[in-house]
Amino acid sequence: MVQDRFNVKRSPSSGADSDDPCPPVARDRLCVLECVPPPGAGLEVRCEGALGCWREPPYAYYFFRQSAAEKALVSLEALGFHITGRYEMTYEQWQRLPSRTLDVGPFRIVYGPSEERGPSRLLKLIFLNPGLVFGSGMHPTTQLCLQLLGRIFCPATMTTVVDLGTGTGVLALAAARLGARQVVAVDVNPLAVQEAAANVTRNRLGERIFPVAAEGLSAVSRFGRLLIMNLEWRSLQAVLQTDAWRRFPYVLCSGYLHAHAQEVLDRLCGTHGHQANGELEGWGASFWVRRDCNLVPSARTRASEESAAR
Ligand SMILES: C[S@@+](CC[C@H](N)C(=O)[O-])C[C@H]1O[C@@H](n2cnc3c(N)ncnc32)[C@H](O)[C@@H]1O
Repeated sequence: MVQDRFNVKRSPSSGADSDDPCPPVARDRLCVLECVPPPGAGLEVRCEGALGCWREPPYAYYFFRQSAAEKALVSLEALGFHITGRYEMTYEQWQRLPSRTLDVGPFRIVYGPSEERGPSRLLKLIFLNPGLVFGSGMHPTTQLCLQLLGRIFCPATMTTVVDLGTGTGVLALAAARLGARQVVAVDVNPLAVQEAAANVTRNRLGERIFPVAAEGLSAVSRFGRLLIMNLEWRSLQAVLQTDAWRRFPYVLCSGYLHAHAQEVLDRLCGTHGHQANGELEGWGASFWVRRDCNLVPSARTRASEESAAR
């Protein structure tokens, strides 16, 4: 997902949403400074025009309004940051959002103001401000996960969910909309956790979705029956190399290209059985059920319908 590293998006709404807890990213040019922080440096840098920071070791990516970039660069260098890259763009150059809504699987993602909260009989609404982090709904891996979730989600057995690598929180929101009672939405990037939390509030799901800043699964202990992980390949590989995911009865994973599908299968098939698959633009996603779990009838029916269709 390298091309999406700077998945800089702004809300397509022109003004602030009336019930929006976080301000929309301004329609200014954006400057991203890629730097290697000095040892022990905190990530928070208070500078005029700062929009947020994205950590992807060994780098940190600082987002600024372009008008503030020169000052920011001087401040970061004075703090011992080694600047390794500078990227400038308009939000429009990075924004690949449809004008107002995007329908994926059983979901309608609404990017505009959340007053348009009108009920939809057919689609489950997700109100989203993609802000600066990954998870606008436009990436094939996100779409694959949304489609698979719509097909396999069973509210009776998937009551508790961990969304590892939540980004904007889009998949956590989707799981809650499908009926998950509690969702822990984890991201290593504090900016993602902040933006996911704002989206949770925007969707009035604060009693069911809990954003947490953490790396991997260490923060969730024994919580969760369904594990969703749409992670960059290196991160997915690292998590699959641990045993932490094996206790989950249900695993939905994405973030890998076709070339890595066999490695994912090899990792998962020891403990889990492959139930469903999706592919889009060379990306893969798959749904797995631990072999010692009984499939609930609805999930079993869906899975057998699917294999019959293949
Ligand atoms: C590809 S984005 C997916 C965002 C969203 N879930 C979606 O489907 O569009 C992956 C997210 O995982 C986070 N991430 C990567 N490695 C992680 C790890 N080991 N633990 C927690 N979060 C991680 C990144 O910061 C990023 O926000």
